[in-house]
Amino acid sequence: MSRVIARQPFSTPEGIEDYVQFEQRFLTLSRCLFVEIALVECNRVPGYVLDVGCGTGALLAYLRERCPNAKLFGIDPSSHMLTYARRILADNALLMQSPIESFTTTQAFDLIVSYSTLRLWDNPQYGLQKIYEMLAPGGIAYILDLHRDLPLDTVQEIFLHLPEQSQRTFFEQQLSAAYTLSELRYILQSSKIPGIEMRQGGLAGYPPFSAESITLIQQNPRIAEYVFRLGSEGFRTPKASEAVVHIFIRKE
Ligand SMILES: C[S@@+](CC[C@H](N)C(=O)[O-])C[C@H]1O[C@@H](n2cnc3c(N)ncnc32)[C@H](O)[C@@H]1O
Repeated sequence: MSRVIARQPFSTPEGIEDYVQFEQRFLTLSRCLFVEIALVECNRVPGYVLDVGCGTGALLAYLRERCPNAKLFGIDPSSHMLTYARRILADNALLMQSPIESFTTTQAFDLIVSYSTLRLWDNPQYGLQKIYEMLAPGGIAYILDLHRDLPLDTVQEIFLHLPEQSQRTFFEQQLSAAYTLSELRYILQSSKIPGIEMRQGGLAGYPPFSAESITLIQQNPRIAEYVFRLGSEGFRTPKASEAVVHIFIRKE
């Protein structure tokens, strides 16, 4: 199966209405879990945070609750997404229209996050380098995306948890836009970023019941809560976590 990029759901008002339905139903818990892991990995209270591909602003809205004193920034190339995000966020975050590849700023960030966007970037190597450059010393970036190396039974099981055909079509399109694991390894290697790391599946890329994932759950009540709720609500099947890669960039 070759890669087919699917940006159209994020660049028209109708596409965004559909995406909002999808994300509210299927992505809210997983995105909260993502933010909690980012905060653990960050290892300090972040002062400046950037969300790359902020979309409807839902991630930044959750971060505002969790880090009330942080200065929040979001970028997205879609004007329609930003119109939606501005309604949600008001003046709680500074939003700018730009793809990661051409974004420039003098601000350094303690934490940079990007949830489910890498597959849509024009130039992922360059985008990752830009993220590295924008990190403050000691800062971290956490990037989560789909990969498309999934066994058929995993895809079928995820489909079973998506009740409507339109949701399956959306998921299928986004999976087709994702990179394979070996393509992702090549992208990371050729970005030449020191200390860039990718883990696949599980909790934050740690296998279920591994010492790392048990420690994450035991030491972080919010992570425990989201893991529990993901197991019992929505379309989340344990197989869904296999579809995800977790990329971490740390700046010395
Ligand atoms: C699947 S949506 C995810 C949105 C959001 N992160 C969320 O949690 O719902 C993908 C987003 O990536 C944005 N995007 C596409 N290409 C991008 C690029 N080169 N740089 C930054 N964002 C990009 C799209 O406009 C869209 O809003």
